[in-house]
Amino acid sequence: MSLSMDAIANNTAKTVMNINILRQIEKDLDIDEKISILFLIVEDYANAFRDIFNLFQKAKTENSYIIVDYVKKYPENWEDKILEALCILNNREVTRKLRISFNDLDLQYVPKIRLYSKNINVVAKCLYRLCESLNENEQKLLLNYVKSDNSNYESLLDDIDYLELHMLYWMQIKYITISKDGTHNLKKLLKHLEKFEDLKIISIDLEKFENRLHVVDTCGNFETNDKNYLHSIFPKGPFLTEQNHKKKIQPINNGLCIIINQMYFEKEYETRFGTSVDCNNLSETFQAFGFKVKIFENLKRKEMLEKIKNISKDHGNKYDCLFLCILSHGYRGGVISSDEKEVSLEAIERAVCCMELKDVIKIVIIQACQGKIRGSINNCLTTDGLSDASVSEDVRQFTKFLIFMSTIQGFVSIRHKEQGSWFIQEVCKILRTYGNQLSFFECITKIITSMQEKNGTIEGTQVVQLPEIRNGRLDSDFQLRSVITSAF
Ligand SMILES: *[C@@H]1O[C@H](CO)[C@@H](O)[C@H](O)[C@H]1NC(C)=O
Ligand SMILES: *[C@@H]1O[C@H](CO)[C@@H](O)[C@H](O)[C@H]1NC(C)=O
Ligand SMILES: *[C@@H]1O[C@H](CO)[C@@H](O)[C@H](O)[C@H]1NC(C)=O
Repeated sequence: MSLSMDAIANNTAKTVMNINILRQIEKDLDIDEKISILFLIVEDYANAFRDIFNLFQKAKTENSYIIVDYVKKYPENWEDKILEALCILNNREVTRKLRISFNDLDLQYVPKIRLYSKNINVVAKCLYRLCESLNENEQKLLLNYVKSDNSNYESLLDDIDYLELHMLYWMQIKYITISKDGTHNLKKLLKHLEKFEDLKIISIDLEKFENRLHVVDTCGNFETNDKNYLHSIFPKGPFLTEQNHKKKIQPINNGLCIIINQMYFEKEYETRFGTSVDCNNLSETFQAFGFKVKIFENLKRKEMLEKIKNISKDHGNKYDCLFLCILSHGYRGGVISSDEKEVSLEAIERAVCCMELKDVIKIVIIQACQGKIRGSINNCLTTDGLSDASVSEDVRQFTKFLIFMSTIQGFVSIRHKEQGSWFIQEVCKILRTYGNQLSFFECITKIITSMQEKNGTIEGTQVVQLPEIRNGRLDSDFQLRSVITSAF
């Protein structure tokens, strides 16, 4: 099956999967994989432990088909969930046998985008990654921590080292909770995860779920008969809900674009040659769409946050869309200011999302090259994070917001010193070419897929070149409107 991107049918899963095929697949899976898949496809996490544990017991004693049993009992949308779970497990043997191209599956389920999932509970996806990241000793250590909090720990689990089974138990006793409606409670687990050096990125992700203001909950059932590819890649995703697909696309008539262009840094960080090209390209691109463009250069941390907070004071709020583009060095979870301080995405989000701009669509585009990771991640979390989410805040100000960024982790700079960064160049190119005809979501889908295409298969750490959508909370799509057609 070699479908082109636009033609990926939303119902691939239903056309390639049936119970007999699942039985074949199960033959190729070992018991840990089966447990992981079951863990990922659960519907009701609070009540799944018994069922899954019984299946696990059964699998130990006889040559049985436990996933088949499970989906017979919980058939809802099982085909899609199994395919997505196989993608998350990165089990290419099995998907090869299904004769689906792995690239097609990646496009459909984008398993590497950490805070996104299509049919599977995104927190479960995160927890699965946690299980995978821990070695045997670390798993034991974590288990001991959790057991020390729970005196009557289930004795059935005494000699079981499948962490997913333990996690299901934790959910059953409400030690942690994850649910479809976005109410998660992971506090107790997060407290223990702090003790593990290597889990920073997972902890940060989980913390996002824990913090209600930052929930990017993408779990839920999705409509299988959407025709549009976009909907298949972002179904009820971080920013769209089913009814919103049907909503009209908002035309943008009056936009504001603020560019924070960080080229020079006080001492340790390299000068970002090439960034002026990005900055000019962005400026021209947005001007061509009738945006008022304002450029700031080399801002210190305090200035950067103030400038952002001052947007409504300095420019009013009589525009329908704000693009804030930040071009700088970065670290995981933020950008670096010219005085070489860390400015977290949360701090930026907080500065942008104010009551005055609550009705304005707010898109933050971040190009951040691999910076020096300074200090421990705990610092990053505590300095600007939202750990003390103040309950008095009005959540409405956090709507209509989305961050689109080039991920940076573990990858050398993709900024060309003369031609600018690959990500911003692609953003400009796609907006210029399609911005007039396609909606914003269609454009970012194109940007994401074209970065993937450029880099061939997405494997291992290479995937960090994927642009990432974070904290997507737009409630409708929109479209830019070109005012200077001859500019292109
Ligand atoms: C932000 O606005 C305040 C009040 O108008 C002003 O004092 C301050 O200088 C502004 N900050 C920046 C960085 O422009
Ligand atoms: C960016 O600007 C440079 C120089 O002005 C130009 O050659 C290039 O085509 C532009 N790229 C995009 C994507 O607009
Ligand atoms: C990914 O894309 C960048 C930019 O075009 C390119 O420099 C790099 O070689 C590509 N990586 C792979 C593995 O193809």
